[in-house]
Amino acid sequence: MANEMGNVDTAVKASHKTVISREKEIGEEAERPSGPVGLDIGTSHIVMAQNKGKNIHTVKQLNAFFTIPYSKFTKKILVENEVNFFEKNDQFYILGYSAENFANMFNTNTRRTMEKGLLSAREDEGITVLQAIINTLINKPKNEGEVICFSIPGQPIDSPNSTIYHESVIKMFLSSLGFRPISINEGLATVMSELAEDNFTGIGISMGGGMCNVCLSYLSVPVITYSIQKGGDYIDYMVGASVGEPATKIKTIKEGGVSLNRSPKNRVETALHIYYDDLINSLLHSLQDVLHSSDKIPKIAKPIPIALAGGTVLAGGFREHFEKALSEVNLPVEISEVRIAEDTLNTTAKGAMVMALSEEI
Ligand SMILES: Nc1ncnc2c1ncn2[C@@H]1O[C@H](COP(=O)(O)OP(=O)(O)OP(=O)(O)O)[C@@H](O)[C@H]1O
Ligand SMILES: [Mg+2]
Repeated sequence: MANEMGNVDTAVKASHKTVISREKEIGEEAERPSGPVGLDIGTSHIVMAQNKGKNIHTVKQLNAFFTIPYSKFTKKILVENEVNFFEKNDQFYILGYSAENFANMFNTNTRRTMEKGLLSAREDEGITVLQAIINTLINKPKNEGEVICFSIPGQPIDSPNSTIYHESVIKMFLSSLGFRPISINEGLATVMSELAEDNFTGIGISMGGGMCNVCLSYLSVPVITYSIQKGGDYIDYMVGASVGEPATKIKTIKEGGVSLNRSPKNRVETALHIYYDDLINSLLHSLQDVLHSSDKIPKIAKPIPIALAGGTVLAGGFREHFEKALSEVNLPVEISEVRIAEDTLNTTAKGAMVMALSEEI
């Protein structure tokens, strides 16, 4: 028991730490961690978190790649410019942020190792490339058997896809590096990062690129977890299809700053408003259905908070739109408030780090 209380203390303390985040620089070597690691394996980004004194430090890499044909000359240039890449089948696989530069140069899109939150079934080399991208961030730990807590999505309710294969492949790879891998549901990671003051009781929702992950947690126990395979990529794709523009262009406009509070000024903004609301409504209706059909919901005396994380909640006025849609559904639990996570792009990695630290004792 003393040990378990110690774990709770560690988790609460860790969740109060400030996150200092940065992007992986081209040419920068992977780290050899000397302590527990949190790892967010997301459709758009991979984020590694480490505990360093008073702060949690995160480093982010783009989960994307680009292939170019093999040539001796190109190889020399890639090596000289410290680009992350590997060779296979007479091709160079350019990894992470470097891939974006190449894709822009060729005026096309990068390729992705994951789609809708899971390993892509469309990319033959998806696993090899994902491993290589993770390897640009992390090397073998200094101590064999170091804990690494990595995020996995909940079972999608809107498709027959399973998360088992995805989770197992990543677990095998992290073990082979010398870590002791422990998976954490992405919704629970949101709870671990944001709901310490609420005894880790509430609903954590991570709205990312590929999916939305939901976890109803009672005292840090994930009572209900699930996902829908819709997220920011869905918004980009649907808006693009509605106005006849490529999804990547929509993504750039969206990330440039969209406000849902302001009346739309053009076709793209109108479509963005429509599909943000569509995503929020799909999510909240799924929550209503899942909670009503579950017999596991604990009796909680007080209303519980909802914590929202992930890049998709960054749109201006997101919380207000979410609250309005929430008032139109009927949930079997009372909600006290809707809170946006402190650092929405690093919440999952931070939550995984909090879990890794409390598992270490
Ligand atoms: N400033 C912004 N405004 C609006 N959307 C943004 C902003 N920054 C990022 N996004 C969107 O957030 C999404 C990525 O979020 P995040 O990094 O949380 O996803 P992920 O963890 O990689 O994916 P997933 O959890 O779905 O596997 C993308 O759709 C991106 O376009
Ligand atoms: Mg995510």
